[in-house]
Amino acid sequence: MTNRRLFFVLILVAVVLPLISFGADMKTRDQWQQRDRVVGDLGLNAGDVVADIGCGRGYFTFHLAKAVGEEGTVYATEITEKALKSVKEKVAKDKTQHIKPVLSDPTSTKVPDNCLNAAIIVNVLHHVPKDQRPALTKDIVRSIKPGGHLYILDWRVESPIKHDVNRRIPLEELLKYGTDNGLKLDAEFHYLEHQVFLRFQK
Ligand SMILES: C[S@@+](CC[C@H](N)C(=O)[O-])C[C@H]1O[C@@H](n2cnc3c(N)ncnc32)[C@H](O)[C@@H]1O
Repeated sequence: MTNRRLFFVLILVAVVLPLISFGADMKTRDQWQQRDRVVGDLGLNAGDVVADIGCGRGYFTFHLAKAVGEEGTVYATEITEKALKSVKEKVAKDKTQHIKPVLSDPTSTKVPDNCLNAAIIVNVLHHVPKDQRPALTKDIVRSIKPGGHLYILDWRVESPIKHDVNRRIPLEELLKYGTDNGLKLDAEFHYLEHQVFLRFQK
């Protein structure tokens, strides 16, 4: 093989093939998450009270806050001060009154009883040890008003993205975290390529 041919073969192996096989991971989260569409599908109204359980750095929190407006409330809960820090800093910088950062316990969100129109938990449950998930979801349901909704978004087991592959939760188990707590599954959204998106009503 000439040096030139060898060079092109090496480029193919080193650059092009990995780009094809890791294509799913090459998209940014903003591309696959469809955050505006997801928040739109929560059907929130101005003045609503919502909780972003395991808010991380607030990927959804600030969009939820826009959806409920200043007369609404967003509880942004986290178990680590480190993750909550950036939410707190942005809240302080924007002088936002209606986002409440909450340092929670692993199975207790610290959100008041029966106050939420909706709770959303995105890519959190697979981080929670399996034996703590029933208690955490029970505690989230405690804080939802009768008629309010719980939204669970978590990795599809079959998603080709290379995150958290070994701790993904089967759909049947995700469904049980709603139904075992007395909720009714009332919608399933299928448009997210990497995540299951379930809506339960209390
Ligand atoms: C992958 S991040 C997702 C953050 C955010 N929901 C998002 O969609 O960007 C998972 C977060 O869940 C938090 N977490 C893990 N266990 C939790 C629990 N029991 N209660 C609340 N948050 C938890 C972690 O600290 C981490 O910030």
